Amino acid sequence: MLNPKRIKKDFPIFDKHPELVYLDSSATSLKPRPVIEKLLEYYTDYTANIHRGIYKNAEKSTQEYEDTRKVVAKFINAKRPEEIIFTRGTTEGINLAASTIGLDSIQKGDEVVVSRMEHHSNFVPWQQLAFQAGADFKVIELNESYELRVMSYESEKLIINLGGVVTKRTKILALTMVSNTLGTINPLKEIIAQAKKINPAIITVVDAAQAVPHMKVDVQDLGCDFLAFSGHKMLGPTGIGVLCGKYELLNKMSPYQYGGDMIRQVKIEETTFNDLPHKFEAGTPHIAGVIALKESIKYLEKIGFKNIREHEKNLTMYLAKALSYEFPNLIKCYGPRQIGHMGGIVSFTLKNLHPHDIAQILDEDNIAVRAGHHCTMPLHDFLGVPATTRASFYIYNDEDDVDKLIAGLKKTVKILK
Ligand code: ALA
Repeated sequence: MLNPKRIKKDFPIFDKHPELVYLDSSATSLKPRPVIEKLLEYYTDYTANIHRGIYKNAEKSTQEYEDTRKVVAKFINAKRPEEIIFTRGTTEGINLAASTIGLDSIQKGDEVVVSRMEHHSNFVPWQQLAFQAGADFKVIELNESYELRVMSYESEKLIINLGGVVTKRTKILALTMVSNTLGTINPLKEIIAQAKKINPAIITVVDAAQAVPHMKVDVQDLGCDFLAFSGHKMLGPTGIGVLCGKYELLNKMSPYQYGGDMIRQVKIEETTFNDLPHKFEAGTPHIAGVIALKESIKYLEKIGFKNIREHEKNLTMYLAKALSYEFPNLIKCYGPRQIGHMGGIVSFTLKNLHPHDIAQILDEDNIAVRAGHHCTMPLHDFLGVPATTRASFYIYNDEDDVDKLIAGLKKTVKILK
């Protein structure tokens, strides 16, 4: 069992703000002491660039950086550390894939498929790529349970039907594993398997920004070609993320950016490029960020993803029940009904109260939630509202936080009515 009260003690922000009710971890998570200390360690003990200097501190920083690559590879079960590319975050990982393998493989008449629940960062890069190439941009719609329309259940058995959505012409299928707005967990393993049956040459890209921090993700089990996530949503520093890609694909892809560390030889006549993973890491990376990411992985693994998932399920159910009990005629929640299909995210509207006003009044009581379209405008078109209020959970939240949110919402309703 996970003990949020004890976990809270590891997060220095609660020493400064003991009254903070932080319900916005889907935007970014708070940072525990070991991560902050590791950042400081690099800056105070052995600052040096990596892969360059032949002196002790340069060797130490290179070793810490490359150790993290191995830790990340093991964490998501990549076949080899060279499949791990450090990026600035999920957005950069997806843009990297779209601008390299996407651009190289899409032609007029091909299809690019995403879903309506994608974050803009897994929607716009593919939409723009399709538009540039003259390819068809197709969007998987949602059903009334806020799940992908290509799935259904027959006596609890999951049925995937990609017929007509994914075809032999589909070159890219890019989907989120967990929706940042609805919390919906998509059955990507089954969807990817069927897509590959329809077209073995399809390239599958997974946005795992809201999944990797909260559940065990195994890239080989998923069977995807690319998977991107961010460090800052999983207790790590901002400005660091990962793109994991299949070695054979990464190896044949053109570079994303040109510069230091990614070249083998430069002559006036021609340039040759470095081996993986360096080919995709031009320039000095966020060295401290990478090194500290290792600590966030260690921290999460010590707690255990079974415990994390169970804890978030309990809080999500507790909040969903409290909302429908306390505001029976006012509340509308947007997300799957079955707890097994939901991540620790609850988005809602409260009658006609504006989400921004709700968030502002909650903030008076130090309750932090996100309000707006959450970078999912096509999804909000489907929901029929321009904005929602979103509460998202992590390991440091407990039922007291939910009780405070409910009390804050009661106060909000009184003020705004
Ligand atoms: N993608 C982040 C969110 O959903 C920023 O809030």
